[in-house]
Amino acid sequence: MDQKAASSFERMVEDLRQEIADREEELYSDVVLREARNPRNVGPIEDPDLRGKVHGWCGDTMEIFLRVEDKTIQEATFVTDGCGATLACGSMLTQMVTGMRLEKAEWVLPKDLMNALHGLPEEHEHCAGLAISTLQNALLNWRMSQMEDEEAEA
Ligand code: FES
Repeated sequence: MDQKAASSFERMVEDLRQEIADREEELYSDVVLREARNPRNVGPIEDPDLRGKVHGWCGDTMEIFLRVEDKTIQEATFVTDGCGATLACGSMLTQMVTGMRLEKAEWVLPKDLMNALHGLPEEHEHCAGLAISTLQNALLNWRMSQMEDEEAEA
């Protein structure tokens, strides 16, 4: 590629990048963009107290890891191979539930997460559902272990 062609190619790539950024800003709230571009609490916890994993119907997977003390979530992290909206959901949800009692975390709903994110486009509402289902899956494991302990004590 000669220099002229290379610079016109670079301009085209830059225009395309700008077009994508403009479209993202039209579609997503500032909070979603902030969380998706700089997600927090990403990565597994070594030897977590609870973990949940859900494979969504869209084909993407999320996994949540919780460190729990005295039935309170001390640390929450996630990994996902999903879209940008899912990254924003995992980031916001793990922040929301840190410091929360397990019984209370069971009641966090997709609409709570979407409110915290100042909304999601309709075609990405299921991403909030995936994040909440993953949290529920981790908490279900806690409920099951509680029931097992109760049965063992009986
Ligand atoms: Fe699959 Fe967002 S599109 S989780």
